[in-house]
Amino acid sequence: SRRTASSSASAGGPGGGHFLPRGLPPGPRGLPFLGNILDLGQDHLPAHLTQLARRHGPVYTLTCGSSTLVVLNSSDVIKEALVKKWSDFAGRPVSYTGSLVSGGGCSVSLGDYSEEWRVQRRLVHQTLQRYSHSRLQALVERQALVLREVLIGYNGRAVDLAEDFTVAASNVITTLTFEKEYEKESEELQQLHSCLNNIVSLWGSPWISALDSFPLLRKLPNRPFSRLLKEVARRDDIIGRHIKEYKLRDNQSEDSITSSLLKGIEQSIGSEDGVRLTDTHLHMATVDLLIGGTETTAAWLSWTLAFLLHRPQVQTQVYEEMCGVLEGRYPQYSDRPRLPVLGALISEVLRLRPVAPLAVPHRALRDSSIAGYFIPKDTVIIPNLFGAHHDPSVWSEPHSFRPERFLEGGGGRARDLLAFGGGARLCLGETVARTELFLFTAYLLRDFLFLPGGEGAGLPDLEGEASVVLKVKSYKVIAVPRPLEADLVVGPPDQ
Ligand code: HEM
Repeated sequence: SRRTASSSASAGGPGGGHFLPRGLPPGPRGLPFLGNILDLGQDHLPAHLTQLARRHGPVYTLTCGSSTLVVLNSSDVIKEALVKKWSDFAGRPVSYTGSLVSGGGCSVSLGDYSEEWRVQRRLVHQTLQRYSHSRLQALVERQALVLREVLIGYNGRAVDLAEDFTVAASNVITTLTFEKEYEKESEELQQLHSCLNNIVSLWGSPWISALDSFPLLRKLPNRPFSRLLKEVARRDDIIGRHIKEYKLRDNQSEDSITSSLLKGIEQSIGSEDGVRLTDTHLHMATVDLLIGGTETTAAWLSWTLAFLLHRPQVQTQVYEEMCGVLEGRYPQYSDRPRLPVLGALISEVLRLRPVAPLAVPHRALRDSSIAGYFIPKDTVIIPNLFGAHHDPSVWSEPHSFRPERFLEGGGGRARDLLAFGGGARLCLGETVARTELFLFTAYLLRDFLFLPGGEGAGLPDLEGEASVVLKVKSYKVIAVPRPLEADLVVGPPDQ
């Protein structure tokens, strides 16, 4: 049966115009009762959803139990939903398990759209922006130099750098939040990472998502679910302890994120808009920054080296560009316009391997439309960023690693990238992430030549493993120090 949407829905969308939107977009047939559970259980889900788009077009519907999911696979339809009609699609699916992992929906990433969520997101965003201007560059530079020492310590041995990248990215976030930096061997750091990673992977597992789609299953024993609850308790214990310790400190830094959020919470108590933020909002915002900001950046760095091993001439081009422009000094974030080849490398890795390949699911807050199709309230929207970045109608040779595509035609292609999402739910850490990607990559490629280090010097597998974060499979690399050490100069202060 045909349904019509609200007036806001019929107003927009390519093919929308004056026409009434059609029904829900068609999609692959599913199993009776279980729907498309087999499609959704695929190992490399982003690649599978991208293949389905070749047959069913850029917008199609999947079902799972009682949930309807609409998958968006091109940049046009993703921008239509997330940017143009952001107010229709800024929600998050509200679920039984989601509420348990997000402090009852008090997190920025999983919290549904509400006045309270807006105030929380604005507070964290403003704090991060302020911090980015004042201290972020120095903080990333420090971690990049620590990483340099670690790599020199490997003495030309073939090593897997994944964990070192995680420690570097994690130290940026833990310094930013509660001014704490960890050694790689720190037991607490291992615990923090293991519980955050376990929560992400357990929560994404079919055993747990089935509890949201099929409520009757909640009455049966479920070991992965019991483990998830234990890991959430462990996470809350570690983060809670840190916030408590931070509150008791005499020497709280004026511009640490935690003190700024604490101030914001105090101010919200007497605010006129009636929104009251609580310690749970602070706690969950800290979790957001740690989860959002550790594995993503670390995975991206591993992808970058993996692609560079496949095309070593790009490594040489970036190195030569830095030698020409920087004359021996280390780069600053403000050097970006002077280092276009490095910028193109960063964009191309973000395109080929957007580390959050399916973003985070959105929810339609009201009846609306996408590409002329009717999208009823509460439909779950999956932005397939990986699919949009491999769309052959937008990117020539979409599977090839060609940073030069961003240098051709004035480099305007970066506008077609959606690695950080868009609209009301745009990645909250984009500025932090961009600073890290730029400085970590520049420092690494300035100081080292990376060579394949696998058995028989094999090259890394580029397909990767997709869960919430898209990661490259483990590989080894040899970091050979560049002969520049004598020229080391610390750059001039940022303009
Ligand atoms: C959300 C990408 C690094 C914090 C997201 C989303 C994407 C994304 C695609 C989902 C947007 C949506 O729902 O439509 C990335 C990439 C990163 C990165 C590619 C690095 C290469 C970071 C960092 C932080 C961070 C460093 C923290 C400092 C967050 C948070 C959200 C988010 C809190 C939830 C925003 C919301 O729901 O309003 N990110 N991210 N991310 N990211 Fe990132």
